[in-house]
Amino acid sequence: MLSPYGAEVFPDFFGEHIMTQTQNNAGTDFYTEITGASFEHVINPDGSEYKFNPAWRCTGFSDTTNPRIPRKDPNYVFDRSLLQDLLIFLMYPQGTALWLTGPTGCGKTSAIMQVAARLNWPVVDLTLNNRFEFTDLKGQWGLTQTENQTQPTMKFIYNALPMAMRNGWILVLNEVDLASPGELSALNDVIEGRNLLVAENKGEAIKPHPMFRLIVTGNSNGAGDMSGLYQGVQQQNVAAMDRYRMLKVDYPSEEIERGILKNVAPNIPATIRKRMCKFASEMRKAFVGTANNIASISVPFSTRSLVNWANTVQFYQSDKVPLKKTLELFFLNKLSDSECEAANAIALTVFGEAWNGPEAGHTSTTP
Ligand SMILES: Nc1ncnc2c1ncn2[C@@H]1O[C@H](COP(=O)(O)OP(=O)(O)OP(=O)(O)O)[C@@H](O)[C@H]1O
Ligand SMILES: [Mg+2]
Repeated sequence: MLSPYGAEVFPDFFGEHIMTQTQNNAGTDFYTEITGASFEHVINPDGSEYKFNPAWRCTGFSDTTNPRIPRKDPNYVFDRSLLQDLLIFLMYPQGTALWLTGPTGCGKTSAIMQVAARLNWPVVDLTLNNRFEFTDLKGQWGLTQTENQTQPTMKFIYNALPMAMRNGWILVLNEVDLASPGELSALNDVIEGRNLLVAENKGEAIKPHPMFRLIVTGNSNGAGDMSGLYQGVQQQNVAAMDRYRMLKVDYPSEEIERGILKNVAPNIPATIRKRMCKFASEMRKAFVGTANNIASISVPFSTRSLVNWANTVQFYQSDKVPLKKTLELFFLNKLSDSECEAANAIALTVFGEAWNGPEAGHTSTTP
């Protein structure tokens, strides 16, 4: 069994049989063992497929029917290292919450959702904004009426936090750094595993279920936005930040993105998919703030844009330049004229003369 004492003891997390204390204490009817076979496409950093040790197990939920379980994306590709970090947190949170930071569209939210989907772990997710107030997470009084009642009555209606805490769900707060530091600090006690006090409901105390987890995502790491790209991001309180483990997520490597495109757009010929990934990687090199950038592009080229590009090109087969036309929709039209020119020049070097002709982007039925 994996020791909670870390990687030196067991260098290969996936090679070990792991279980949480929860499962040992609570019996097996509520939980089930999930094997590596549930994670179909796991890719190593060099692009090779990761093969799970057949003995590997981790804890998941036995109820597969809960509507809160995220929908499984069969094309989703797991980055081995990110998957390992997420699973270690889910199995061993040790009184911390998890903060995933990274540029837009690099796969933060989807990574959590897809791991939860494999573990049948229900998730309640919200996207925060600058008007977020902690009390909104707890709930509010409202008029309710059941079929048997003739008169509506006032009742406390629980919101995401008590629901997740009671039932052992994952609470995912997206764009968490848009919230004000004071409001976010109100989560401190809950992160440490203490009861949630609902003063609004006669001081009710909500005890956390052992499987309750808090995961947040944001484009910053809580220290404010250094890039100037993410309007509205607020610097967070250092004491609150001290309670999170901070996981940096970046755009997947070219090799991993090739694996993603192979799954999501198998009809695009492999050579074109490869060049699309190369183009994505070149765009990131040209992105403002990157060292030694030749051209400066102010819009990040996200994995989301790459997937949308690949997904849409098939509908533009009758276009003279299908690949270029679809790239305009998801990227080029968002750039200034000079940036667009620079991006086009890079595309020309990546795709060759075919970039301005119909060959680039024609999909086929044989992958
Ligand atoms: N590993 C992957 N496999 C398949 N698709 C992926 C993968 N990573 C990202 N994607 C695609 O990119 C899209 C964007 O990912 P996601 O929403 O997780 O990004 P994010 O980092 O949370 O972005 P934001 O900062 O804007 O919230 C996903 O909906 C999915 O289509
Ligand atoms: Mg997100």
